[in-house]
Amino acid sequence: MTGPQAVLVGPMGVGKSTVGRLLAGLLGVGFRDTDDDVEAVEGRTIAEIFGDEGEPGFRAIEKRAVHRALAEHDGVLALGGGAILDADTRTALVALRTVHLSMDVEEAVRRTGLDTARPRPLLAENPRERWQELMEARRHLYEGIATAVVATDGRPPEEVARAVLDAM
Ligand code: S3P
Repeated sequence: MTGPQAVLVGPMGVGKSTVGRLLAGLLGVGFRDTDDDVEAVEGRTIAEIFGDEGEPGFRAIEKRAVHRALAEHDGVLALGGGAILDADTRTALVALRTVHLSMDVEEAVRRTGLDTARPRPLLAENPRERWQELMEARRHLYEGIATAVVATDGRPPEEVARAVLDAM
C-alpha cells in the first residue's frame, strides 16, 4: 500500500468531506475523514474533546488518527483543517497527492455558521475574525504542501470534485 490516492486539506467548512465523498465516488475508491476517525476512536465529539482537554489534547489525538489513516487508507482522505499544523504530518504528506480546497472569508463564515451539525470550537466566538486569523497563520502551510489548489467559492460540490479530479 502506498497511501491515499488523494488527500484533501483546507479550512473548516470548505467542503472537504462532501467533496471527498464525491471524489471517491468518481474514482471508485473509499472515503475516510480524520474528524470522524477521532470521534469514533474517542467516543466523544470534537467539541467535547476540546472542552475536556483543550486544543493541545485534541491535536495529539488528531495526529495519531491522521498517521493511522495515512498508513491504512488507500482511497480519498480528508484531514481536519488544523491537521497540517503538525510538522510530522506535513512531512508525511510530501510524497502524496495533496489538494488544497480554498475559499474566501465570506463563504467560510456562511458555511461554518450554517453547519450546526458539526460545531467548530475554534470559531465559537467572532467567527469572521477567528477565521481570518487562522487563515493568516495557516495559508502558507496549506500552500507549502499542496500539489494543487482548487477554489470552491460559489461552486457546487460536484463541480469542485471534478475540478479536483482534473487537477490530480
Ligand atoms: C479544526 C477543524 C475541524 C476539526 C476541529 C479543528 C481546525 O475540522 O478538526 O474543529 O483547527 O481547523 P474540519 O476542517 O473538518 O471542520
